[in-house]
Amino acid sequence: MQNFTLYTPTKVIFGKGQIAQLRNEIHPDARILLLYGGGSIKNNGVLSQVHAALKGYSVEEFSGIEPNPAYETLIKAVEYIREHDINYLLAVGGGSVIDGTKFVAAAVNYPGEDLWEILATGGANITSALPFSCVLTLPATGSETNNISVVSRLKTHDKQHFASPFIYPKVAILDPEVTYSLPPRQTANGVVDAFVHTLEQYLTYPADAKVQDRYAESLLLTLLEEGPKVLKAPENYDARANVMWAATQALNGLIGAGVPQDWATHMLAHQLTAFHNLDHAQTLAIILPHLLQEKRDTKHAKLLQYAERIWNFTEGTEEQRINQAIHATREFFESLGVKTHFSDYQLDGSSIPGMLQKLEQQGLVALGEHQDITLEISKRIYEASI
Ligand code: NZQ
Ligand code: ZN
Repeated sequence: MQNFTLYTPTKVIFGKGQIAQLRNEIHPDARILLLYGGGSIKNNGVLSQVHAALKGYSVEEFSGIEPNPAYETLIKAVEYIREHDINYLLAVGGGSVIDGTKFVAAAVNYPGEDLWEILATGGANITSALPFSCVLTLPATGSETNNISVVSRLKTHDKQHFASPFIYPKVAILDPEVTYSLPPRQTANGVVDAFVHTLEQYLTYPADAKVQDRYAESLLLTLLEEGPKVLKAPENYDARANVMWAATQALNGLIGAGVPQDWATHMLAHQLTAFHNLDHAQTLAIILPHLLQEKRDTKHAKLLQYAERIWNFTEGTEEQRINQAIHATREFFESLGVKTHFSDYQLDGSSIPGMLQKLEQQGLVALGEHQDITLEISKRIYEASI
């Protein structure tokens, strides 16, 4: 096992009716800006629950944070806060709203003039952020308890992330009932995203990290079991609760502590969203199976473990078992309705040179747990995905 530091300071309040707890968590004198997306929280009653919890508080609203939150939108929230008396942010939504809020929290007092620098430098120069909490409505990204934010700049086809110890949410409210209203596409996206997060911290090389491996396996098995259930029965509380907690755990630092990690699938996938505006999970479902094929030799031992412990493939040659596991992973995504090729999204691969150029510009030229996914290999993975 490798050395590690694990810091997960977000207070999680989980369960039915827990939005009401906001009142106990936010100081009555706070001057709050509530940030949200396109309006799903109005239709499913979450916004009124938040207002009921914060009755008597000073609460202003900023809406319109889009999926894959746009820098162009977020800087308007930054301007608004700079001109108004706001000292606390509350994100109510999915990963995009929470990520957008993290960016806004860090940008308000950022010393530089060009706020894109926060993304370009990966968050290195952040020295403070406004305090914020979140009400999660879409289990997927893990953003509710981690310190990562992903922001897109539309005009330049950039989608990049930053991380900072200052952007952990103070409190995350996780009420599985608020996920009943998710459209099947977003429910499925969430399961795929959490599944891929787990695999990117698991499918590398053995580090004799038994707790992390078995914890990752429990998340994968839970997502495999519960994912289809929530699609079939959107109001199955226990299945929703299991998916929600699995998605949080998949990217809160725990399973990645002390083990090698491979975020190449995410880095290649972000370019697909930046160029074609695909959903985040769709891009992962396209890239991951091809990346596993490409790196099957260096990931051999963990792929075999995955084949046996998750899929029960124990017969045939080692190469056959690995083939079966990669195939089963793709089939799982497809069974949820998340397609796995460029062509399924009417893409022909003509943007590959542009995406490779972006990877190069962003310094993403030595990816993976061995830093051996060069631009040439990224090109092969993109081409195999068409
Ligand atoms: O905008 P509204 O109207 O709220 O609708 C949203 C949006 O259209 C809708 N939705 C959310 N909760 C709902 C709901 N509709 C009905 N009922 C509900 N309860 O779902 C749509 C998608 O929402 P979005 O927040 O974009 O989805 P997701 O949570 O998948 O977030 C994706 C973003 O997170 C980033 C992705 O790159 C992408 O930009 N990621 C963030 C990470 C992190 N911070 O750690 C890691 C991830 O790997 C990922 O990169
Ligand atoms: Zn993701």
